Amino acid sequence: MATATPTVTPSQLVVRHLQVHYPLPRRGLLGRRGVVRAVDGVNLNLAAGETLGVVGESGCGKSTLARALAGLESATAGSIKYQGRELVGLDERGWRPLRRQIQMVFQDPLASLDPRMTIGASIAEPLEALCPELDAGQRRSRVAQMLERVGLSAAQINRYPHEFSGGQCQRVGIARALAVQPDVLICDEPVSALDVSVQAQIVNLLADLQAEMGLSMIFIAHDLAVVRHISHRVMVMYLGKVMEQGPRQALFEQPVHPYTRALLASIPGHRGGESLPPLQGEIPSPSNPPTGCVFATRCPIAEAQCGRQVPNLNRVGHGGNSACHFTLQTA
Ligand SMILES: Nc1ncnc2c1ncn2[C@@H]1O[C@H](COP(=O)(O)OP(=O)(O)OP(=O)(O)O)[C@@H](O)[C@H]1O
Ligand SMILES: [Mg+2]
Repeated sequence: MATATPTVTPSQLVVRHLQVHYPLPRRGLLGRRGVVRAVDGVNLNLAAGETLGVVGESGCGKSTLARALAGLESATAGSIKYQGRELVGLDERGWRPLRRQIQMVFQDPLASLDPRMTIGASIAEPLEALCPELDAGQRRSRVAQMLERVGLSAAQINRYPHEFSGGQCQRVGIARALAVQPDVLICDEPVSALDVSVQAQIVNLLADLQAEMGLSMIFIAHDLAVVRHISHRVMVMYLGKVMEQGPRQALFEQPVHPYTRALLASIPGHRGGESLPPLQGEIPSPSNPPTGCVFATRCPIAEAQCGRQVPNLNRVGHGGNSACHFTLQTA
């Protein structure tokens, strides 16, 4: 497994105050046009060779963040720097050389492959588009090599996606993303659509490839146990914002933000940190978020101040950050 803390290396990605807002349809002729604040001021760093796990309830903006980092969604404001180079505001032409460096693995493995293409052609497609220095023979051998690397056989190169199981299709999706030899791999719930028995195989495959290829990885999942297994660091999102981030062990064993503490308390049998009641109630709408702290309406320790004042994401004792006026103080 690849979860030993990597040596300190410069950040591949530095994200500051990132916002992705989706406009809502106008209500009536003179009505105001609202927005969905899907990602609303996210800061993160991703070091070379590091896996950052991203968790949070459905609708908190995980996929939108992933898509913005991979250049599949335009940022409304803020900055994303890859190796010091600003990505926000780049058009398709500007993104083209970077697509080789930043690749994505999607949730639904079958839907992300073209059913009319053999898996060999699917894996070769980004190579043709992004690696013009390779001739047809070199492409073919890269595809065969990638198939073997993800645990499939080069002899399966001419088969079609429907001939494979969900787990095998996800292996193809991973081979396709890694064939161009990226530095950064963004995985948006890569195992959520798979049978539990297959999930561990794919997670272990990703962890092995991450370590072997020195990839920086963002790994999004609903399942906190999966995130704990694969990540060096974990970031917790709520309503488009970062609530807490920190080293994996500290975050699971000494969480300091009431949202993280409540989220972890909802895992059966979880021990670690001072417990809070599990989460109750609905997440507010990201088109009409609460003023002050966005978590205040569901927070078991909220006070009047929380409804008025947005907490800063401050450095905390476990080596990460927490955005709470009443962050639990740990040694
Ligand atoms: N294209 C879009 N247009 C308008 N709203 C959108 C669009 N895409 C996402 N949203 C909204 O933005 C918010 C964040 O969505 P997102 O898919 O990023 O959440 P998520 O954390 O990935 O959720 P899940 O865990 O269910 O995958 C949600 O309220 C969603 O309805
Ligand atoms: Mg999602």
